[in-house]
Amino acid sequence: MPQTIFYLGATGYLSGDVLPLLARDFPEDTVRALVRNPTPARVAQLQALHPRLVVVPGDLNDAPVIVEEAATADIVINSASSDHWPSVRATLEGLEKNAAARPGSPPLYLHVSGCGIISDNIHGEKVENPKFWSDIGLSLEDCEPTNTHLESDKPIVAAGTRKENPIRSIIVYPGQIYGVGNGVQKTTLWLRIFMDYAKRLGYAGTWGRGFNAQNTIHVKDLAEAIAMVLRAARDGTADEGADGLYFGVTPTILSYGEWTRGMGDYLYSKGIAKEPGSKPMPEEIVEPLGHYGWSLLGGNMFAKGDRLARMGWTHPESDKVTLMETLPAMIDAALEDDKPYVHIS
Ligand SMILES: NC(=O)c1ccc[n+]([C@@H]2O[C@H](COP(=O)([O-])OP(=O)(O)OC[C@H]3O[C@@H](n4cnc5c(N)ncnc54)[C@H](OP(=O)(O)O)[C@@H]3O)[C@@H](O)[C@H]2O)c1
Repeated sequence: MPQTIFYLGATGYLSGDVLPLLARDFPEDTVRALVRNPTPARVAQLQALHPRLVVVPGDLNDAPVIVEEAATADIVINSASSDHWPSVRATLEGLEKNAAARPGSPPLYLHVSGCGIISDNIHGEKVENPKFWSDIGLSLEDCEPTNTHLESDKPIVAAGTRKENPIRSIIVYPGQIYGVGNGVQKTTLWLRIFMDYAKRLGYAGTWGRGFNAQNTIHVKDLAEAIAMVLRAARDGTADEGADGLYFGVTPTILSYGEWTRGMGDYLYSKGIAKEPGSKPMPEEIVEPLGHYGWSLLGGNMFAKGDRLARMGWTHPESDKVTLMETLPAMIDAALEDDKPYVHIS
């Protein structure tokens, strides 16, 4: 049956690969996309990704708009920000009203978070025996409570497991997403952040010494994972609620030191950086982001995507091309779209 999907973050990098898969798998659905700054050009780009997309003008801080949309949608997908609690709170408020209005047929919420929940907060240092986390048996209560994303994720799981007016909740935790995107935003979020610093400093840098590492995933494989989980949820076969936590990762792990060295070398070869390689960034860059930055960008996050593997998900694009191999193309795309990075949490 055709469904209405309320979508937050449609103009983002990941969404550029997810929206066409929604159109492929559920061509009758309508997508109502919250978009700030809906210029005719951006709207046309979005409708090229999904022909049945309607723009709802609004910002993540427009709680009444989000509540109203979430209260009437069949499905909400949020890949806007894993750290914007006010928009998640408004989404959950709308979804609770929605669930109350249709007992026995609760709405589905698919939220995109990140592996920051399992950071070991190691401040860029070497660690001998890092912990590997599986998503099967994972409880958010086992994560270091000050880690990023948990502020939103815990209430989502609570809404997905409560007795009264429960919703159906699924949270996807991507590793480091790479590849040139297909949508309005072509550049992955972390590259925009580090490019911005590199241009300001004249070199590529790390939080601390950059020995910290995480799993990587090509954006096309992650989009297919999200589509697969959605198909399963609609068939009633997906793990949800307390079990609805999915690491979107491949087994390939890369350190921040290694990829920032590649970035520094490439920017140097183009005359953009003043020196090749990478080195620790100074206090005036890293300290303003405080614990948030150290935890997210200076910690190890070693995940095993056991739940997706159990569903038969594979990662052909990631197997074909590594992050390091595609890094120059990603940097070129970022240089073409020279918008400064704006921190939104
Ligand atoms: N990229 C990664 O490697 C990675 C890894 C792990 C987790 N994640 C998470 O995955 C999600 C998607 O990442 P991404 O790389 O696709 O992010 P992105 O490219 O930065 O996309 C963010 C989207 O959210 C929208 N947005 C941000 N602030 C908004 C506001 N105040 N009002 C309205 N819309 C707003 C942006 O709209 P505009 O176009 O108007 O800016 C854009 O559509 C995020 O939650 C991110 O934290 C990403």
